[in-house]
Amino acid sequence: MLFLLILFFGGSAGLTSGQVWPLYGTPRKTVTLSSYGGHVFQEEGVWNYTTMLLREDMGVLILGARETIFALDLNNITDRKAMVKWKVIPSMRTSCSNKGKDFETECQNYIRILHKMPDGRMYVCGTNAFNPTCDYMSYTHGNLSLESKDHKGRGKCPFDPFQKYASEVVDGELYSATSVNFLGSEPVMMRSLNESIRTEYTMSWLWDPTFVGMKHVTEGEENPEGDEDKIYLFFSEAAIEYDFYNKLDVSRVARVCKGDLGGQRTLMKKWTSFQKVRLDCPVPQTKLPSLIQDVFLFCPGKWSTCVFYGVFTPQADTSQYSAVCTYSIQDIREVFSKGEFKTMVNVNFFPKWVTYDGSVPDPRPGACINNDARQKGYFKSLDLPDKTLRFIRDRPLMDQAVEPSSKQPLLVKKGAAFTSIVVASTTALDGSIHQVMFIGTASGSVLKSVNYNGEMVIIAEVQLFAHFEPVKILRLSSTVGQLYAGSEVAAVQMPLSSCDHYTSCVDCVLARDPYCGWDLISYGCVAINSIHPDTRSEVVQSLRDGNASRCPAVESTNTIKFFYPGNMVSLLCEPGSNLAQVQWHVNGHPVENSNVYQIQHNTLLILNASESHAGHYNCTSVETIKGVDYMTQSATYELRLGDFMTDPSVQPLVQEQQNTLLALKVLVIILTLMLLALVAWNFYKGYFAIPKCFNSDEESQQKTSGCQEPLQTGGRNNAASKACSSNSNNNHNRLSGNQHNEDQVF
Ligand SMILES: *[C@@H]1O[C@H](CO)[C@@H](O)[C@H](O)[C@H]1NC(C)=O
Ligand SMILES: *[C@@H]1O[C@H](CO)[C@@H](O)[C@H](O)[C@H]1NC(C)=O
Ligand SMILES: *[C@@H]1O[C@H](CO)[C@@H](O)[C@H](O)[C@H]1NC(C)=O
Ligand SMILES: *[C@@H]1O[C@H](CO)[C@@H](O)[C@H](O)[C@H]1NC(C)=O
Repeated sequence: MLFLLILFFGGSAGLTSGQVWPLYGTPRKTVTLSSYGGHVFQEEGVWNYTTMLLREDMGVLILGARETIFALDLNNITDRKAMVKWKVIPSMRTSCSNKGKDFETECQNYIRILHKMPDGRMYVCGTNAFNPTCDYMSYTHGNLSLESKDHKGRGKCPFDPFQKYASEVVDGELYSATSVNFLGSEPVMMRSLNESIRTEYTMSWLWDPTFVGMKHVTEGEENPEGDEDKIYLFFSEAAIEYDFYNKLDVSRVARVCKGDLGGQRTLMKKWTSFQKVRLDCPVPQTKLPSLIQDVFLFCPGKWSTCVFYGVFTPQADTSQYSAVCTYSIQDIREVFSKGEFKTMVNVNFFPKWVTYDGSVPDPRPGACINNDARQKGYFKSLDLPDKTLRFIRDRPLMDQAVEPSSKQPLLVKKGAAFTSIVVASTTALDGSIHQVMFIGTASGSVLKSVNYNGEMVIIAEVQLFAHFEPVKILRLSSTVGQLYAGSEVAAVQMPLSSCDHYTSCVDCVLARDPYCGWDLISYGCVAINSIHPDTRSEVVQSLRDGNASRCPAVESTNTIKFFYPGNMVSLLCEPGSNLAQVQWHVNGHPVENSNVYQIQHNTLLILNASESHAGHYNCTSVETIKGVDYMTQSATYELRLGDFMTDPSVQPLVQEQQNTLLALKVLVIILTLMLLALVAWNFYKGYFAIPKCFNSDEESQQKTSGCQEPLQTGGRNNAASKACSSNSNNNHNRLSGNQHNEDQVF
């Protein structure tokens, strides 16, 4: 039986195009890593796989874990190319534990910093039992080796393995943000390896910060103002500007200029360009400011097109809403280079931060050396006048905040907190370019999601880690087309798309996955980048509308099933996606939950079925998109009362069963006779005293009832059609066999 594809139009509460407020997303599909074509890497006895460096030039992923660094094949991370151990020397471990730190956990070497240097070597730092240490490392001839020339890691790498930090290497210099002391109480952002430059240690610069990311933006390239590259630091910290009874945290972005060498007298060996600003990501459901957890720099073209994607979670766990906000580099630059400053005044002996309305010195405090400054005779930060330097030393905070693009989050979702984000770009069938976000969560999954004209679509949630361990790090390789994620217990890899897990044309098109389209000729969901240009017109993809009207109609399956009064009958119907609604009808009337019918996620149960329950049962799974309902699955069951003698359609089967029965009975009789003979012989020999009895009927009865194979199925889409009427005491094998089939299809 064929159903019309589009059932009816309109009347649905689905989001319409152009609606700006984001969906409180339900992922359309929930899938496992293995069904998505992923791989897991885990080394016996090694934990904390939370630092990664992509070396696409060498085809390896450098993975930093506790006391160990691995080089793994980028295409298949289960293929370990090399490994090097970096253990803490025993005396160091003892002294760490003597200072009150935990010997087993804290007094070990956690690899925290991994960067590529200009000469191809790598710079590595580890916590080394609360004694941060750095070293150079090379990967040559399939061999990973540390040079064992230990450098002091203070200020580059945290002492405490549980403390968050950020770092970046630019032109062979290491920029880092962490604590410089054992207690973890003195925060710093510094540049090192050559002459070191750092932040002033005062509350107005950094106050109890949590660092989350550092990004280099090449603003010096083709810059009309002769400006230079900058390094942006993302973090949250206690807000100095609010009078709040309790300490209130806010998100921030700070920046420094690449060429900053510090001041001559004021701000000697300190940043002359350190400025910071509040970063807002307004989530209506949360009252307190959301806090940034990770940031990804996405640049589709030259630096002026760059956008920062940040993930935010609520502070103080008051709500469960996480969000993604984006900030354009232009908006951030605008605030830093044109905005007003905040300044501290004393109100009744209490410090208060207000808008500065006096005159601002020239050159502008915090600005990099640009054409304007050069014209006035300032060629490096060391030349800057004291007035400019004192101003920025005392007023590093901007008055305004940076608002997200379009003034609101790109995505808000209730549930497990977001921990990390990467963004990939891909070209769709029609040539349009889309940014695909991969968001790591605290429950060990990654959300794949795209924004179509303000409408947020979560294409899938892929469960990466078996025991819901939080995703601690995400890395993207666009060249290999893979995503890498790390947690405390394992590292995994996952392809950016897996088109063949969509099972039908409607499923493939409704997914709105920019990587995939349905090929009407080869009859499969295919990767867009693998399509031959000549066959493009035969591929269906509809990202903005999810329009599946070119898809062939879903074929309905039709199954005849027998049941016996008093049995429980279960009829299967797979919804096909988390967004689909399953509807059941019996003889044309809708089925509702009652003490007879139980509608479950993918089955209808008829408890204690009686004669009156025979009839036509029809299940449809309907997914609504843009007000249009699409049928993604349809199954019809004809439920008949089982009666061998009167039902002609089961006659042959019954005959067959009766023949089997007869054969079995004969077999049992022969066996019984043989056994009797054996017993008699034993008696004759005098081994036995009491004879034993055997019942030959019990066994044979079990074969008479049970599960019938579907007698009739329509079309290739018969996955949902097989089912069993389960009789109280038998056919476990048959049931599990069927379930196995379903698992393979979905
Ligand atoms: C390292 O991993 C172990 C095992 O999951 C975990 O208990 C521990 O907290 C982790 N250590 C750090 C510093 O995250
Ligand atoms: C990945 O590498 C492992 C170990 O080298 C190997 O056993 C496995 O077959 C590889 N898998 C794929 C898909 O190449
Ligand atoms: C790998 O490097 C180590 C340390 O430099 C060296 O001792 C070892 O011989 C090297 N192994 C190979 C196969 O090159
Ligand atoms: C180190 O600093 C000196 C002067 O401050 C400079 O000349 C040199 O180029 C720097 N080296 C690197 C590797 O940046």
